[in-house]
Amino acid sequence: MLIRRCAVLFLEPREDLDVDWAALFSGQGAIGAKLEWIALAPHIGDEIIVTAAELPALGGISLTLWQERAAIESQFGAAVVAHLLELGLLLSDAPEGAALRERDEVLRSQHWRPLSATVHMYSRWADMRVDKGMQFPSFEELVDNYGTPPGPTINRRSDGVNVQLPPPERARLDDTLFQRYTGRNFDQSAVLPLATVSRLLQRAFGAQGEREMAPDAFVLKKLSPSAGGLHPTEVYVLAQRVEGISPGLYHYQPTRHALEPLAEMAPAETEELALRMVADQDWFQPAPMLVVLVTRVERNFWKYRNHAKAYRAVLLDVGHLSQNFYLLATEAGMPAFVTAAVNEIDIERALGLDPLKDMVVAVCGCGPASGAQNTVEMRYEP
Ligand SMILES: Cc1cc2nc3c(=O)[nH]c(=O)nc-3n(C[C@H](O)[C@H](O)[C@H](O)COP(=O)(O)O)c2cc1C
Repeated sequence: MLIRRCAVLFLEPREDLDVDWAALFSGQGAIGAKLEWIALAPHIGDEIIVTAAELPALGGISLTLWQERAAIESQFGAAVVAHLLELGLLLSDAPEGAALRERDEVLRSQHWRPLSATVHMYSRWADMRVDKGMQFPSFEELVDNYGTPPGPTINRRSDGVNVQLPPPERARLDDTLFQRYTGRNFDQSAVLPLATVSRLLQRAFGAQGEREMAPDAFVLKKLSPSAGGLHPTEVYVLAQRVEGISPGLYHYQPTRHALEPLAEMAPAETEELALRMVADQDWFQPAPMLVVLVTRVERNFWKYRNHAKAYRAVLLDVGHLSQNFYLLATEAGMPAFVTAAVNEIDIERALGLDPLKDMVVAVCGCGPASGAQNTVEMRYEP
């Protein structure tokens, strides 16, 4: 049997603080501290406790070359090797190791920067709900707990010297910019006209042109900027109430300007999925249309291989898309929202996505306002 180490591995010496009740009652120090080695391996995505005795093997076995198991065992011990194989931190060419080996190969094939892959895989939520710890503290509660926040502005000159600028002139973008706000009180029964959805999707996410930069190397022109011009963000639509579109999940195809149906759903099912996607933020659930922004990392990492800036760049791409989505919704007379507090793992399951390849980044949505103010919104007040 041949063995090598998984492609990406970080080891965190984590400290668990605990109240030591026995010590407390005997009048000694009350806090117990326990240090553990936590292995973070993005091809697995779960935190794994390893022992100090296993560390030399993890640091001493090649992640590139396949080596004979017997030779590795003689160096690090058979029990250590067997346990690390079981955990999936060592990989083998044996049939029983195929599933973990394939996950490692998917990770290798995407050209992730190791630290970025780790941040991505270990910052995803599954089934985060109010009863599982999702919290929505008010500003008052935050101030009570943490004191007042750092101020909203800073001055870099202690002597107060400024070059005062003239007031901005009014211009065409102003109407839309000033009307934009994050909606948290959507009309529960409003249906989005198909024409509105069509313009919104096409202008925010659609292709306005296609160019062949080199033989068989195509890029799309869109109305937002994208790192390397690669536009790796895919758009999935959860239609709850859109005129002429059955409730369900769709993929938006940006060159054909078409929705590819993925799952037809009953209205109650879209409501349940919408709420789950946004981790119980019930003020977003009634939006007639939600949009999931998902980075196809392979497309960006094709150019920015193992690149220190690639992860940052793909997140910025999504920010630009969501801002255009907001502005187009505003133009159509509707509030919009974006949230990063999403249950990525539930969304991956619903859409059939592999998180090593497809990175769920944010969920947007829009719809007419109900007129109520049950949840706080921040509209511009002249
Ligand atoms: C990256 C990002 C994540 C956000 N996440 C949430 C969220 O989880 N829940 C929410 O209610 N609003 C969320 N928002 C909206 C902000 O709270 C909102 O933009 C901010 O309060 C300013 O209000 P405005 O957009 O109406 O100007 C998010 C905005 C951004 C840019």
